[in-house]
Amino acid sequence: MPSRLALASLVTLAGLIGCSGCAAPVPTAEAPPVVEPESLGAAQFPRARLAEDGVFYEEGEASRDGTGRFYMGREIAQVMDHRGAAWLERPDRARQERPDLLVDALELAPDAVVADLGAGTGYFTFRLAPLVPLGTVIAVDIQREMLQIIEGRAEVEGAANVEVVLGTITDPGLDPESVDVTLIVDAYHEFSHPREMLTAIRRATRPGGQLVLVEYRGEDPTIPIKRLHTMTEAQAIREAEAAGWRFVENRDVLPQQHLLVFEKP
Ligand SMILES: C[S@@+](CC[C@H](N)C(=O)[O-])C[C@H]1O[C@@H](n2cnc3c(N)ncnc32)[C@H](O)[C@@H]1O
Repeated sequence: MPSRLALASLVTLAGLIGCSGCAAPVPTAEAPPVVEPESLGAAQFPRARLAEDGVFYEEGEASRDGTGRFYMGREIAQVMDHRGAAWLERPDRARQERPDLLVDALELAPDAVVADLGAGTGYFTFRLAPLVPLGTVIAVDIQREMLQIIEGRAEVEGAANVEVVLGTITDPGLDPESVDVTLIVDAYHEFSHPREMLTAIRRATRPGGQLVLVEYRGEDPTIPIKRLHTMTEAQAIREAEAAGWRFVENRDVLPQQHLLVFEKP
């Protein structure tokens, strides 16, 4: 029997996804709201880390959707706010992005432990869960509100193999060598600390395990998405290799996104 919290989360999500007679504005595909950086929690961003920061990151002028923070020449995008949940669940997304092709391409073992990192509303979490009936999907996000949506849906759907973890901006908080595959879809470009995140994911991955990075193709100017929400293959490989990942291949199965597979050496 779903709890009241679960039902409340689902009602919230249903409301966000769209209700034709509702007065509440639904964010458009063009303008999902972004998180004010301060609200990500100064507590998660200790001073010592700030001092170290200059080693990897540079500050510059922020572009319209950017943070003014640069990693390996790439400006980091702003974090999408949980109030934009409707945008993640937009009805035409499946046609645009073909998540069915994406999850098939992962070729998951039925007992795999998969981390859906930057899970948002769980758009991928709940597509992965049936593929690993003997395994687990760990949905990680830094916004508690996103995880509440996932918890609510997991309870209502009886998805017993879905767990949630509240990460920080530098660490997903996963146990060492506990994960077979980490999937990051449309989220990496907004990680404020990509270097630390990629290193922490590597620590959490079993030897031979994979990181799968899915980002809109930055090489293709015809793809209708904000520039900072895209990534070129070369840039993604540069950043992942700098954190100790080995590039395996770009599985070219998606209409608009790269599906980049890396392995823990
Ligand atoms: C654009 S949403 C994508 C959500 C989901 N992957 C999807 O494709 O529907 C990006 C998500 O990444 C999360 N995020 C940003 N930085 C993060 C970090 N360092 N660790 C975990 N999640 C993060 C945000 O809170 C947001 O929910």
